[in-house]
Order: sequence, then C-alpha cells, then structure tokens
Amino acid sequence: MPKVTFILRDKTQKTIEFEHGTLPYQGHGLPESFLDLAMNAGVALEHACGGSCACTTCHLIVREGGQNLSEMEDNEADRLDTAWDLTVSSRLGCQAVIKGDVVVEFPMYTRNYVQEGGGIQLGQPEPAAKVPEPV
Ligand code: FES
Repeated sequence: MPKVTFILRDKTQKTIEFEHGTLPYQGHGLPESFLDLAMNAGVALEHACGGSCACTTCHLIVREGGQNLSEMEDNEADRLDTAWDLTVSSRLGCQAVIKGDVVVEFPMYTRNYVQEGGGIQLGQPEPAAKVPEPV
C-alpha cells in the first residue's frame, strides 16, 4: 500500500495511503499519478491543462522514493524543460505514476500563463470606435 507525502507550499505535510486499483479515476492525468491521487484526496495540485502533459502547473519535486515512480517518458521530459525551478528530481504530477512510498514537495511557484496574464489570456476588448452621427 503506497504512502505518499505531499509537502505543501506552506511546508505543512499531508500523507495519504492508498491501495492500488482502488482510486476512483476522475480522468485527470494518468491513473494513480500524483494528480489522480491529489484529486481523490483533496490536495490542491494545480493542473491547468487537465492532466494532459501540456503545461507545468502540476510540477512536483521528488524528495524521497523516486525509484518508486514510473519511468519518465519523452513527452514529460520535454514539457518539464519549461517548468519554473526545474530540478534533477522534478516530475509532472499528472504523468508520474506511483508504485510505492514517495515524498514530494510543491515548488514555490509554477508557470501558469493564464494566471500570469500570458498570451492565452483573452483580456478586455478594445472599446468600440465612435461612429459619427449622419448629418
Ligand atoms: Fe498540465 Fe500536468 S496538469 S502538465
């Protein structure tokens, strides 16, 4: 029964134990990934792309038990390259599947282009130009 400890941004810890095959899958990230576990346990792990390996908001830093995770695939490695505060033990929470006991820490920040007002934010429309009244 894997035991997962999340070290949150305020440095408090939340430890969750689960039995393989018992998590109700909610379609966020890979089954039994950190994101899947977090969604089931009420841990607020950001997931701006819904767990499809298209952002880095689910970035976690593995502190213990990295050998108890699935191997990193190329798409995860490519996406992780764009993460804020990337470390050699970084993983994407939606892609790393839990196989045994592990301790992970939330990085201080994530790159969330929507919250940061990036290129995909729609913003406010330009005010309409005034059309002169017909004379
Ligand atoms: Fe977007 Fe994991 S939630 S990459």
